Amino acid sequence: MVSKNSPNNGPGTNTGGTMGRLIAVVNQKGGVGKTTTVVHLAAALVEAGRSVLTVDLDPQASLTIWSGWEPDELPETVYHGLVGRERVRLMQAAGQLAVAKSGPRRSSAAPTDENPSSVPEDTVPVTEVIRSSPAGYDLVPASAELALAEMDLVNMVARERRLALLLAPVRELYDYVFVDCEPSLGLLTINALAAADEILIPVSCEFLAWRALEVLFRMVGRVRLELNSRLRLAGILPTMYDPRTRHSREIVERLYSQRANGLRVLEPPVHRSVRFQEAAEARRSVLQYAPDVPGAAAYRAAAAAVDALPPVRLPTRKNLIEAAGRP
Ligand SMILES: Nc1ncnc2c1ncn2[C@@H]1O[C@H](COP(=O)(O)OP(=O)(O)OP(=O)(O)O)[C@@H](O)[C@H]1O
Ligand SMILES: [Mg+2]
Repeated sequence: MVSKNSPNNGPGTNTGGTMGRLIAVVNQKGGVGKTTTVVHLAAALVEAGRSVLTVDLDPQASLTIWSGWEPDELPETVYHGLVGRERVRLMQAAGQLAVAKSGPRRSSAAPTDENPSSVPEDTVPVTEVIRSSPAGYDLVPASAELALAEMDLVNMVARERRLALLLAPVRELYDYVFVDCEPSLGLLTINALAAADEILIPVSCEFLAWRALEVLFRMVGRVRLELNSRLRLAGILPTMYDPRTRHSREIVERLYSQRANGLRVLEPPVHRSVRFQEAAEARRSVLQYAPDVPGAAAYRAAAAAVDALPPVRLPTRKNLIEAAGRP
C-alpha cells in the first residue's frame, strides 16, 4: 500500500516547491479529537491536491491504526527513527523490548547544519519508516514501544530536537506535515513543539477542556522562549460540539468570543457524531465514510482555512487568563 505521494514510491509532491508547514496537533487533555483532527485535516488537504505527511507521536498508535496499519506488525516505527537501532538492540538485550527487531545498520540520514553531531549513526532514516494510507496521506507510524522513548531520550544529546532532526530530510517533500501528539506535555510533545512551525489545538466543547488551554499555552510559551521562537498558532478547533446542550453552546460561544483578542478559532465547530468512531473502525475518514455529516464539512472548512491563512501569533498569558474567565 503505497500512495502516489510516498517517498517509498518516488519523490514527494510538494506543490509549492518550498519547505512544507510543520503543524503539531497538540492538547495535553486526552480524548479531545487530536487524532481525529490529524486524520481529517490530512484527508481534506489531500482532496484539495496537497501532499501531506502525518506523524504518529503517541504510543497509543491511534493514528497508525486509523490509517490502516497494525502497529505490532510494523518492523520499524518513529521510535527507531528517534532513538536509533543500537539503543533498541541494547534495550532488547536488557529485556525491555519484547518484540524482536533487526540488528543495527548505518543510517543514510544526513546530519543537519544545525546540529551535525546529534544524529546517531544508526538512526533509521525517516524515508524507511514512511507508509501510505487509503486516504492518500503518508504516515510515520508508531507502536506501543514509543512509550519507552520518554525514558530513553532523557539521556540523549539534543533530546528535545530529535523529531526535528528526524523529519528534516523529508520536510521539503510535503506541503504539510502534521504531528499527532500524545495527551501529555512530556518529552515527545516537547519534541513536536520544538520541531513545529505552528500548533493546531483541538478543544472539545466542555468546561475542563477549555480550562486546560491555559496550561497548554503556558507550556507553549516556555517552549517558544527556550526552544522555538518561530512557533505560531494555526488555529484552535472546537470539537465534539453538540448544539442540543446549552453547555456545549456556551463553551463554543466563549471560544469564538476570544477572536476579538486575536485568538484564531476555526469555524464551524466539529459536531459530535458517532460516524467518527465508525469511520475509525472502517479505517477511513468521515469524508469518505459519511460525507454528509456536519463534521465532514467542518473538517473541510478547517483544512481550507489552514491552507489559505498564514498562522497568527500565540496568545499572551494575560489573554488566556481573561479568556478562561478567571478573576
Ligand atoms: N466529532 C466527534 N464526534 C464524536 N466522536 C468523536 C469526534 N471526534 C472524535 N471522536 C471520538 O472520540 C474519541 C477521542 O478522539 P481522538 O482519539 O481523536 O482524541 P485524542 O485527543 O486524539 O485522544 P488522545 O488524547 O487519547 O490521543 C475517539 O473514539 C474518536 O473516534
Ligand atoms: Mg490521539
